[in-house]
Amino acid sequence: MQIISRVVQLEEGKENGISVRTGQYKSFRPKLLLLLGLFLAVVVTIFIISVSAVKYTGLQNVVTTFVPCREDGPNSLSKLIRQPPSALMHSMTDEELLWRASFRPERKGYPFKRVPKIAFMFLTKGPLPLASLWERFLKGHKGLYSVYVHPDPSFTAKFPADSVFYKRQIPSHVAEWGRMSMCDAEKRLLANALLDISNEWFVLVSESCIPLYNFTTIYTYLSRSHHSFIGAFDEPGPYGRGRYNENMEPEVPIAKWRKGSQWFEVDRDLAATIVEDTLYYSKFLEFCRPACYSDEHYFPTMLTIEKPTALANRSVTWTDWSRGGPHPATFGESDVTENFFEKIFDGTNCTYNGRDTSMCYLFARKFAPSALEPLLRIAPKIMGF
Ligand SMILES: *[C@@H]1O[C@H](CO)[C@@H](O)[C@H](O)[C@H]1NC(C)=O
Ligand SMILES: *[C@@H]1O[C@H](CO)[C@@H](O)[C@H](O)[C@H]1NC(C)=O
Ligand SMILES: *[C@@H]1O[C@H](CO)[C@@H](O)[C@H](O)[C@H]1NC(C)=O
Repeated sequence: MQIISRVVQLEEGKENGISVRTGQYKSFRPKLLLLLGLFLAVVVTIFIISVSAVKYTGLQNVVTTFVPCREDGPNSLSKLIRQPPSALMHSMTDEELLWRASFRPERKGYPFKRVPKIAFMFLTKGPLPLASLWERFLKGHKGLYSVYVHPDPSFTAKFPADSVFYKRQIPSHVAEWGRMSMCDAEKRLLANALLDISNEWFVLVSESCIPLYNFTTIYTYLSRSHHSFIGAFDEPGPYGRGRYNENMEPEVPIAKWRKGSQWFEVDRDLAATIVEDTLYYSKFLEFCRPACYSDEHYFPTMLTIEKPTALANRSVTWTDWSRGGPHPATFGESDVTENFFEKIFDGTNCTYNGRDTSMCYLFARKFAPSALEPLLRIAPKIMGF
């Protein structure tokens, strides 16, 4: 209503103005012409002076004062899009955050120089006992990575200001193993990391994960890969297809039902695909409940349906399931030997960009806090950092 009445007022004002001017025009015609002539003369003089001023003081000055203003001005592309949010803590609800993070450019390429970064997303219960190993791994690579930490909401980390984990905690909620709340936490990490336009590869890790190579090697491996590393396999039997519920049809057919470890790496396009999904989410929320564990099925299945050719169908995080049971083995101080790592490095073959390779894993889990000392000791020799 307000807008309409304002428009009406403006329209009326316009008409009034015209009628007043027409009256003046008729009675003061010669005077008006004289004034117009004088005005034109002044305008021409000002134009000539300014053109010669630009010529003699040099165009460069004008350019140098203009460009920084264009790049850093309050509403420049730089301020609006390129710079990551200055603080990770925000008051958005999950719904608001996922909606905001699902924005993606449709136009190819970036109209600025963009150095793609790896986002390391730490899904944790609380403290990060292996933090100093990660600090060493990331040292010297500022600008090529970002760190995000999603702990239990009751936990507040205290890292010194020079730590890579300093103020990298995001707003979190309780995540329960095997439940949809675990996928919610992973989506929350992805969404927060998507807010930084420079993040290109998104790696989910836990407090018990370690890197197996130096940063340069891992960056090269991820950036040159034609696929994202998320485990997705079709497993017959009770722990694979047996968890499928046919109420998920037709959106989720059994032929596309996949299983995979939750520790994934996805590129920006897949991250956005995960964050924007509401269709498969509602199916899994309703029909994948224990003994169906959504954190093992939701992302592998929905990505197999939506973006199958973008997937490597294998994870780059090594885990030892050989001891059996629902949880993988945890390694402590006495396990961390050179021989132990030789087995990880040479134990499997896989494909990378269509070629066979024995370099299948970039990260490994699970390591207990007691493993930190021996890990720091052998890292320079075994992992190259
Ligand atoms: C992964 O699996 C999908 C089908 O589920 C397939 O289309 C894709 O080519 C596979 N990726 C690789 C690297 O083989
Ligand atoms: C991996 O491939 C190499 C060369 O083809 C072979 O010598 C090795 O035994 C394979 N390793 C495993 C664990 O299959
Ligand atoms: C990283 O490790 C590779 C071997 O894995 C080595 O050739 C390279 O020099 C290392 N880079 C740095 C910066 O230490």
